[in-house]
Amino acid sequence: MKRNFRIIAAVLAPALAVSCGENAGHIADRVFSLAREQVILMDARLAPNTSPRTFENGKAVDAGLKAWTSGFFPGSAWYVYEYTGDSRIKEVAERRTRELAALPGYNVGHDIGFMMNCSYGNALRITGDPSWRGPLEAGAANLASRFNPTVGCTSSWGSFRDSEFTVIIDNMMNLEILTVVHRLTGVDSLLNIAVSHANTTMKNHFRPDWTSWHVVSYFKDSGQVAFKCTFQGYSDDSAWARGQGWGLYGYTMMYRETGIEAYLTHAENIAGMLLERLPKDGIPYWDFDDPAIPNTVRDASAAAVMASAFAELSGLSKDKKMAGKYRKMALRQVRTLASPEYLAAEGNGNFLLRHSVGNKPGGGEVDVPLTYADYYFLEALLRLTR
Ligand code: GLY
Repeated sequence: MKRNFRIIAAVLAPALAVSCGENAGHIADRVFSLAREQVILMDARLAPNTSPRTFENGKAVDAGLKAWTSGFFPGSAWYVYEYTGDSRIKEVAERRTRELAALPGYNVGHDIGFMMNCSYGNALRITGDPSWRGPLEAGAANLASRFNPTVGCTSSWGSFRDSEFTVIIDNMMNLEILTVVHRLTGVDSLLNIAVSHANTTMKNHFRPDWTSWHVVSYFKDSGQVAFKCTFQGYSDDSAWARGQGWGLYGYTMMYRETGIEAYLTHAENIAGMLLERLPKDGIPYWDFDDPAIPNTVRDASAAAVMASAFAELSGLSKDKKMAGKYRKMALRQVRTLASPEYLAAEGNGNFLLRHSVGNKPGGGEVDVPLTYADYYFLEALLRLTR
């Protein structure tokens, strides 16, 4: 009887804690303890020089290191090491980070920022060991080489036509590698490129209601906008959820990095829109404007990116009342993500979170775990407990 009671209590504890408003420290303790186990299992399963992407139809889906997602597993390992101090996890983080050393030698798009900053950027920040600097600096130089001064941006992908230049809202995330390496090296052009990209994106990517387009294509020669559209959202004029998260995170980060007030104001405008439009539990549907809502899928990865950004914005906002609201939303999001509905206690291909959406219009990665959802979830928890 006693034993049965203990089993029932262990099963119900997370659910009860969520309904009673489990605090950030408690959530972080149980999530990082699970994440520690999952990193070890994932590392044991994963071949060298590959990266985990998702788990679909009962099978692990891995990717090569040139995939945009290759920095997130080493980055998650660094976050788990940061929280737990476990030397076994540090060894995984170091080894999986070193595997990415050659990436700045390739044309992998703006994603070089995700790849190198999540891995090498965290390695340097957490250990302070300057031997991590070289590939990080090379990553920043790679991204900076994509800058077109006429457009005022770094290009995200190849172009639709030779005369055009493509920029996606996701690219805001990758300005951080430029500002970090500017701080390390004093190379001003890196900071100038980041500021120019953020200013141009603020002008052309956002609608009057503070939602953003996914893709803006510019004419290379004039810097004028050619057209705006989506690749991963419901429609060209809809608000693709993860894109809204990238925007919130990007402008919050750019304010932290530069102190430029316009970025704080912009981040708070995006935050205000999200506070109004997010569902009660804080987890967005994959696109805010999908007419099938509520009969469509949520995107845990978008929620994780937003939670991390809300947590940071709550510490930067000068408006105490709004700062409280941002923190409350971040907490609500991590509480829901840490509930049994989203957090997988086992299985799930050794990913933490279920129910993310990679590219619904492309027909792939719908309602699955995704490596970047886990990364930003762990980051949000670190930010809420620091
Ligand atoms: N390009 C990154 C994303 O799918 O959000």
